[in-house]
Amino acid sequence: MYVAIIGYGGVGSGVAELFTKNHDNIVKRSTQAQLELKYILDVRDFTGDPNEHLFVKDFETILNDAEIGIVVETIGGIHPAYDYTLAALKAGKSVVTSNKELVATKGYELLKMADSMNVNYLFEASVGGGIPIIRPITQCLAANEINEVAGILNGTTNFILTKMIAEGMSFETALALAQENGYAEKDPTADVEGHDASRKVCILAALCFGKHVYPEEVYTEGISKVTLEDVEYARDWGGVIKLIGRAARVDKDRISAMVSPAFVPKNSQLASVDDVFNGILVRGDAIGDVVFYGRGAGKMPTASAVVADVIDCAKHVERKKMFGWEDSDKNYVVNYLDVETALYIRAVADEPSTAIKDAEKAFGSVKTLTREGAPANEIAFVTPRAPEKALRSKLEKMQGIKILSSIRITEY
Ligand code: HSE
Repeated sequence: MYVAIIGYGGVGSGVAELFTKNHDNIVKRSTQAQLELKYILDVRDFTGDPNEHLFVKDFETILNDAEIGIVVETIGGIHPAYDYTLAALKAGKSVVTSNKELVATKGYELLKMADSMNVNYLFEASVGGGIPIIRPITQCLAANEINEVAGILNGTTNFILTKMIAEGMSFETALALAQENGYAEKDPTADVEGHDASRKVCILAALCFGKHVYPEEVYTEGISKVTLEDVEYARDWGGVIKLIGRAARVDKDRISAMVSPAFVPKNSQLASVDDVFNGILVRGDAIGDVVFYGRGAGKMPTASAVVADVIDCAKHVERKKMFGWEDSDKNYVVNYLDVETALYIRAVADEPSTAIKDAEKAFGSVKTLTREGAPANEIAFVTPRAPEKALRSKLEKMQGIKILSSIRITEY
């Protein structure tokens, strides 16, 4: 059986490297007599690359070659990745990808096409990089009703927050360091503003709850507004700030799905997931909480998951894996304002002691927080849990305060 890689960036070149390095065992585990890399598609030239002889520039070469049974799509983004993936599946080739944006946006349609052609569309690398999470959810935890999935799904933002928490580094300096280390892109928007994590939430939610969730349905806040003052108040509260992607079952027909910074209690397993690592907690009715931890990004960890999918495709020729989910309707994901949460609030107040009394009156009770060196007119408190809409409406009615930060509180 022959394999083609389309897109020779970090992940694609990692796939070629790993495929060559561990080739004998990869072939053995694939149960095929042979499993060879035949083509690499990229618009760029890679003169001197050990795989230089495999490069092609026209996707048709791959599409029309009946020997190619598996296409590895590591282009990223929607176009032309979607067009090539659809064409490959239609031509009866299995496709393996690390492309979370494509799976989150077009996963339902592509899985349907794979199903109708009796081939596979696998994407273990799309969430958590090298961390096994897609198979554990769909296979090992298949006996459970999963009620919630939550995690630190983006390495770049976790690195930035870790620097802010552990070293008191400002957001801007930590971001510059992440860029210097090659974690964050020159344009870091997708990581920093939570879009990357949001796509991963879509995929996790689809796997856990059985229906497609589209990125625009996931309320998404990034970390660019998190300040060192908030980090200090989180410490006083007894936890740390993490960018948490989460989806939960609301009732039998609806779920919630969100990405936002959150206060995580320091005894939570997610609180100790630091630097570029990812951690994903799955809450099942039989297993309870189970947490997956490891390298959520990077060339070789991601290649590890991609090549495992290639092996799985080779083992399942003309046999489908059980991946798949239904489409969803407009009301499937509830409005984030209807989700119950507690809120941390930092504000400046005309009369700080009056403002705290007003907050106690409005919310029943609040937990006040302190930090060293806070200006006399700064207040910080945590509300009780309630639907977010109700909390926001009470905050709006409070007189004489200007809210500077509001961050949700998690319970895991
Ligand atoms: N930029 C992503 C991260 C890579 O930092 O986690 C994996 O999606």
